[in-house]
Amino acid sequence: MNLFATKPLSRIMRESEGGEHQLKRSLGALNLIALGIGAIIGAGLFAITPVAANMNAGPAVVFSFLIAGVGCAFAGMCYSEFATMIPIAGSAYTYAYATMGELLAWIIGWDLVLEYAVGAATVSVSWSNYLVRLLGHFGLSLPPRLTASPFEQTAAGTGIVNLPAIFIICLISIVLMIGISESAWVNAMIVALKVTIVILVIGLGWAYINRANYTPFVPPNTGEMGQFGWSGVMRAAGMIFFAYIGFDAVSTAAQEAKRPQRDMPIGIIGSLAICTLLYVLFAYVLTGIVNYKDMTSTAIYDAIRATKYAWLSTGVIIGILAGYTSVMLVMLLGQSRVFFSMSRDGLLPKLFSDVHPRFRTPWRSNLVLMFFVSLFSGLLPISKLGDMTSIGTLLAFVIVCVGVIVMRRTHPETPRPYKTPLVPLVPILGVIVCLAMMAFLDKDTWIRLVVWLVIGLAIYFSYGRHKSHLVTQPEPVQPAPAGKAS
Ligand code: ALA
Repeated sequence: MNLFATKPLSRIMRESEGGEHQLKRSLGALNLIALGIGAIIGAGLFAITPVAANMNAGPAVVFSFLIAGVGCAFAGMCYSEFATMIPIAGSAYTYAYATMGELLAWIIGWDLVLEYAVGAATVSVSWSNYLVRLLGHFGLSLPPRLTASPFEQTAAGTGIVNLPAIFIICLISIVLMIGISESAWVNAMIVALKVTIVILVIGLGWAYINRANYTPFVPPNTGEMGQFGWSGVMRAAGMIFFAYIGFDAVSTAAQEAKRPQRDMPIGIIGSLAICTLLYVLFAYVLTGIVNYKDMTSTAIYDAIRATKYAWLSTGVIIGILAGYTSVMLVMLLGQSRVFFSMSRDGLLPKLFSDVHPRFRTPWRSNLVLMFFVSLFSGLLPISKLGDMTSIGTLLAFVIVCVGVIVMRRTHPETPRPYKTPLVPLVPILGVIVCLAMMAFLDKDTWIRLVVWLVIGLAIYFSYGRHKSHLVTQPEPVQPAPAGKAS
C-alpha cells in the first residue's frame, strides 16, 4: 500500500453525495460569520489571555493577538480555498487525503483530536472555574479539591478531580447523541451575548484604565525563553492562538452555504477580522484595569469588580458560561465528524460511523469521546490542555497551507470558486507564522505533541493501513448509506 496514495477528489465528492443528508443551502454570509464567532469567542479570551499576560507577555499580549490574528488570516484564506473546492464535511482531514496522501491525512486526523477533543476539555475546565466563581457569588461552594486537577494546588490541598468540567462535557455529549442541534436562533443569541460582554468590557472599562499598568508595556525577559520580552510575546501568541480556534469550523458548513464561492471566504475572514479587533481592544483594556502581575484565569471578573459596574459581574459570568457551551458543542461535534469521515474511509473502526437508528447521530462515537474528553477535563490543568490544543491546531494549519500549494500543482484544473491570493506567498507566510508560534511554545508541549503523534502512527501502521478502503475497496465504491451524518 502506498502511504502517499491520495483519495481522488471525484471519489470524495461521490461518497459524500450518496444520499447522506442533502443539506439545504440556507446559510448566507451573515449566518456564517455568526457561526464562526459562536465557535471562536470562548476560554481563549476569558481564561487564557490573563494567564498569558501574567506569565509571558504582560500588556504586550496585545501584540500576541495581532501576530496570532495574522497567522490565522493566512491560514483562513487557505481554508477558504479548500472549503469551496471540496465543500464537504471532514475539514482538514479530507483536504489532506485529497492532496498529500493517506499517511498525512491520518496524521492530520489524529492531530485534529488535539484541536477538537482536547480543545473542548480546555473550555470545560474554564467553565468549571467560572462556575465556582458564580456559586461563590451566591455564598455557595463546592469542595475545592473536587474542582481541580491532581496537578493543581487548592486552598484545601492538591486537587483530586475536576467534577464540574466532567459534568459539562457529559451534558453536551448527551445533547449531541440525542441529536438536538443548536438552532440558528440559539446560536445567534449566544453570539450576541458574547459580543455584548466583550464590547461592554471594552466600552465601560476604558475609563478605568490605569496607564501605570502599561509600564513597561513589554516587560523585560527574565532570562528564560518565553518569559516576557519578545520571546514571551511569541510564546503568548502560541497560547492565545487558542482564542482564534473555531473559524475553521465555518469551512465544515460549506455544503450548507447559499453561495459558497462568495460567502465562505466572507464567513471565515469576516469572523476572524471581527474577533481580532475585539480581542486586541479587550486585551488592551483588561491589562489596563488589572495589573498583569495580579492576573488569574478569571481576571475578567476582577476587572469588572474594580469598576462601578460591579453589579454586572454576575450577568457576565452567566453569559460566559452560556457562551462556552456553543464552543464545546462545535468542538465535540467537529471531533465526531472527523472520526466519522476517518471511520468511513476505513482508517478507524466502524463503531465511529455507526449511526443511531432513531437519533441519526454517530452516538457510539460521541460516547467514546465523552469518556476520553472527560478524562482530560477532570484530570489535567487548563494551561497544559490549552497549549496542546494550540500546538495541534497550528500543525493542522501548517498542513492545510502546504496543501494549497500542492493542490495547485497536482490538480491545476479543478475548479476553485475561491482562490487564495498570491499563491505560494500567502500559504508560505501562513506556514512561517504558524511554525514560529509553535517554535516558541514550551518544550513539554512539544514532547507531548511528539508522543501523541507516535501513538497515532502506531495505530495507523497496526490498523488503518491495512483496513483503509483504498486497499480493501478499490474503485468503484458504494456510496454511503442514506441517513448517515458526517
Ligand atoms: N476559540 C475557542 C475558545 O477560545 C476555542 O474557547
